[in-house]
Parts: sequence; structure tokens; C-alpha cells
Amino acid sequence: MSELLDAARDAVDAAFAPYSDYAVGAALRTADGSVYTGCNIEIANYSNSLHAEEVALGSAVRDGHREFDRLAVSSAAEDGVTPCGMCRQSLAEFCDESFVVVCEGEDGPVEYELGELLPETITREMVER
Ligand code: THU
Ligand code: ZN
Repeated sequence: MSELLDAARDAVDAAFAPYSDYAVGAALRTADGSVYTGCNIEIANYSNSLHAEEVALGSAVRDGHREFDRLAVSSAAEDGVTPCGMCRQSLAEFCDESFVVVCEGEDGPVEYELGELLPETITREMVER
């Protein structure tokens, strides 16, 4: 079993999800091999809630990382949850279409490339033209 997915599973335990009761954990490996984890954090107005992937990405960027190697995501239900559309777009800011996302499916890990999760991505080049 992958160490990165183990780290995502561990992060599920830190989730603060009193409203949905749906706990998510993420583990993001940087190009230099560091691992940043995140969990979802829900806020009473709902819209301020943070997703596990955002927390992991934000922590890594805060520490100066800009290049990433791989992401693992798990929910407490181990139901194969993938990053939502918003998180896919956030990942695409830093990662190209070949970036691998591994998710904890009911029958084991399932791997995706970011390009298949988010085709036709809006890019910096498009908005800066
Ligand atoms: N959630 C994540 O943390 N990551 C995703 O990309 C999918 C959804 C969280 C948000 C909310 O706290 C809960 O899962 C139910 O949607
Ligand atoms: Zn999300």
C-alpha cells in the first residue's frame, strides 16, 4: 500500500466535519519529496469551509513549494472520493496534466491524471494574454 495514501488516511482523523460528517484527508508530495497533509475543516456558514486538498496545497505553498509530484486523497468512507472541481483547478495552478492523483476506492487505490480529471483547464497563459 502506498505511503502517500497512508498519510492521506491518517489525515482523515484530523478532519473537522460536524455538518456533513464526511471526513476527507489529502497528502501532497512535493517535487523534493516532502509530504504535506490536509483535512477538511467545516465552518458554520458552509462557504468558508476548507477542503482537504486546499489545506495540503496551502501549507506546501506557504513553505515555498511550487512543484508537486503526486496527491493522495481518502475519505473515512473509503468510497473513492476524488478532488472536487474547485480543488482540481487549484492543483492545475501548479501541476501539469500528467500529475497523478491517487484515490482510495472501495476496491483499492485508483489512479487518475489531472488532465483527465480537469480537461480544458483555464490557465495563466489564457488570462494573461
Ligand atoms: N471535500 C473535500 O475536503 N475535498 C473535496 O475535494 C471534496 C469535498 C469535503 C468538503 C466538505 O467538508 C465535505 O467533503 C463534504 O462535501
Ligand atoms: Zn475540493
